Amino acid sequence: MAEAGRPMIDVSKPNNARVYSYLLGGKDNFAVDREAVERILIRDPGLKRRARLNRAFVTGATKRAIRAGIDQFIDLGSGLPVHPWAHEVIRLGSPLARVAYVDSDPVVFSHTNACAAVEEGIVAALADIRDLDAVLAEPAVHSAIDLSQPACVILAAVCHLLPPAEVAEVAAGYMRVMPAGSWLVFSTEHITDLALRAQLAKLYGVDRFYDHCQEIVASLFADLDLVAPGISEARRWLSGLGGVPAEPGQPGYMLCAAGVKPLAS
Ligand SMILES: C[S@@+](CC[C@H](N)C(=O)[O-])C[C@H]1O[C@@H](n2cnc3c(N)ncnc32)[C@H](O)[C@@H]1O
Repeated sequence: MAEAGRPMIDVSKPNNARVYSYLLGGKDNFAVDREAVERILIRDPGLKRRARLNRAFVTGATKRAIRAGIDQFIDLGSGLPVHPWAHEVIRLGSPLARVAYVDSDPVVFSHTNACAAVEEGIVAALADIRDLDAVLAEPAVHSAIDLSQPACVILAAVCHLLPPAEVAEVAAGYMRVMPAGSWLVFSTEHITDLALRAQLAKLYGVDRFYDHCQEIVASLFADLDLVAPGISEARRWLSGLGGVPAEPGQPGYMLCAAGVKPLAS
C-alpha cells in the first residue's frame, strides 16, 4: 500500500482488472494496458467481444435469478467498476437487493469501495476468493449477505486464472454454505490454443491462463439444477438456444452456466 492508504498502482506491466476495464470500454486503465490489448487483438480479434458477451451473460443470468426471487448477490473477482455495473442492473429488477463485491486487487477494492459507499446495501471487500472463511468473515460481506437466505454467487471471468482443482473447491465451497435455492452464475474463457493462452497469461499478468472445458464446468454444476439452456457459449445461453459452436471460427469463446442449489442437497 502507498501512503495515505491509497494502493500503489504498478504501470510497468498490464494488470488483469485494468485490461478488462479497457476491453469493456472503461476508463480505469493505462497506456501499458491498452497497448498490450491492442497487440493481442491482432491475433485474437474476438477478445473484446467475448468480454462484452461475458457481461451480457452476467446481466442476463442475474436478471433470471432476480425473477426467481433472489435479492442478494456476491460477486467474486468483481473487477473495476464499468457501467452498467452488476448492482446497477440488479437494482433495476430488485431495488433493495444487496450486492457484495469481492476482489483481491487493492486498486479494484479502492475504486469499488468509493463507488459502493454511496449506496446502502452495496459493499466491497478486499479478499482472495479462494479463502471462503476470510471472505465470509469480511465485515462488509457479513453486513450485506444473510447466509440463512438464498443468494446468487457470481464467478464470472475469473476462473480461467485458477487451476481446475481450485475452481472446483471455490465453487463447491460457496455453494455448500449457501442455502437451497441459491444460484451459481459462472463464466470462463474457453481457449484451446496454447500459444494464445500464454499471451493471455502475459496480458492478464498471471503465470498461467487455464482452459476450463465443458466437462470441467459440468462437474461444478453436478450437485446443482442447471438453468436452461445449460452450459453454453455466452451468446447461445442468452438466446436460449444453448450449446457451443461446433466450429467457433475464433480461437475461443465464453463458456457460461447458471445453476440452482436444490432443496434436497
Ligand atoms: C477479468 S476481471 C472479471 C471481472 C468481472 N467478474 C466480470 O465478469 O466482468 C477478473 C477479476 O478477478 C480478480 N481476481 C483474480 N484472482 C482473484 C482471487 N483469487 N481472488 C479475488 N479476486 C481475484 C482480479 O483482480 C480481477 O479484478
